[in-house]
Amino acid sequence: MKKRQFSILFYFLVLGFFSFPSCTDDKVDVVISYYGQKDDAMLKKYVSLPNIPHDYNFKLPNHTGLFSRPIDKDIATLGRVLFYDKNLSKDKTISCASCHKQELAFSDDVSFSQGVENRVTARNSIALGSVLNFAAYYGDFGGIPFFWDNRATRVQDQSKATLGNPLEMDMKMHEVADVVNNHEYYKPLIREAFHKENSISETEILDAIGTFVNSLTNYNTKFDRELDKIGINSINYAFTGFTQSENNGKKLYMSHCASCHGQNAGRPPVLSANNGLMLEYDDMGVGKHTNYANDQGKFKVPTLRNISRTAPYMHNGMFNTLNEVIDHYSSNIKNYKNLSQDLKFGNLPIKI
Ligand code: HEC
Ligand code: HEC
Repeated sequence: MKKRQFSILFYFLVLGFFSFPSCTDDKVDVVISYYGQKDDAMLKKYVSLPNIPHDYNFKLPNHTGLFSRPIDKDIATLGRVLFYDKNLSKDKTISCASCHKQELAFSDDVSFSQGVENRVTARNSIALGSVLNFAAYYGDFGGIPFFWDNRATRVQDQSKATLGNPLEMDMKMHEVADVVNNHEYYKPLIREAFHKENSISETEILDAIGTFVNSLTNYNTKFDRELDKIGINSINYAFTGFTQSENNGKKLYMSHCASCHGQNAGRPPVLSANNGLMLEYDDMGVGKHTNYANDQGKFKVPTLRNISRTAPYMHNGMFNTLNEVIDHYSSNIKNYKNLSQDLKFGNLPIKI
């Protein structure tokens, strides 16, 4: 790829997908006693929540052909508090949000994130707020599995693995349930979510976290609005609301990147691939989990929505900027044994 083409593609990646609808807009002027006056006052001491629960529902763009699933605001609110609660980690220093920061599309800005007792994760944190619709994208039948090596199939299994991971939160599920059942700020939240005061089960805790993360989304970008104007079948035509550079970048993306990362940056057409980051991999990715030689060095094909917010990039955070990523695809793809055919011309890595 020539220098000018890089900058065009770069421009498209940053501008085309740059939009991050925050999941919270918490300022409500009228004071309503949602949980009852006593509980409202008690909750204020511990957590920062809107006076009435946020409505987590949203409408997806037409081009996706998807309906978002209804989200129960009370269960999502409980999940939200769990997501931000450091008491759920062994040394009470780490919450989900420590490594999945809202302002970074729920990712982290370091290659490896800090877990309990100053341990660090083995891989780069994955952005949670970058998919069109978490529930439709992941998990359920036909969805995308979780983690860089696709090893978890449901958000509940993923959360359980994370809470229990010695490098992350290092808690057994029964310890998590004890913490939740013994802290007074959970009582009104559990009451509204599950219609009881305490004794929340491990499954209900995981369901609540799952409901909250299912509400994280990125669906209202300039790209989505433009695509809805002309419809998915005309995706390869220039968008009238795009600049020339954005349209040129889109064209490059469609011919060189979409076969893996997806046409409308929704669900990727392939679950995992090797994109030739190195000649030898220490971390075998999907291969480590399946034990197949053909899967070695393959990793989840990540979403590129919100990509400008989620540096550093790749499973090991080896690139700090999008320019470095583009340089990689442009001229530095390594001929690893499992390099995807999409990134080869004959037997050699392509140079875009
Ligand atoms: C110490 C940092 C850390 C903490 C704490 C943490 N995560 Fe993560 N998260 C990561 C890393 C690193 C990955 C990628 C791990 C891998 O692929 O092996 C990840 C992956 C994920 C994924 C998979 C996304 C995908 O596209 O596959 C989800 C979902 C997730 N985390 C949610 C959570 C939730 C919910 C919590 C709290 C219960 C949590 N995380 C706590 C670092 C963290
Ligand atoms: C053969 C499939 C394939 C093609 C084609 C492809 N990618 Fe990727 N891409 C991947 C995989 C797999 C990863 C993750 C690799 C890893 O972390 O080891 C990735 C990672 C990325 C990342 C980092 C995302 C993150 O969250 O860390 C960016 C940015 C990216 N690709 C952009 C592009 C661009 C731009 C193009 C076109 C020039 C492209 N990709 C073409 C498979 C592909």
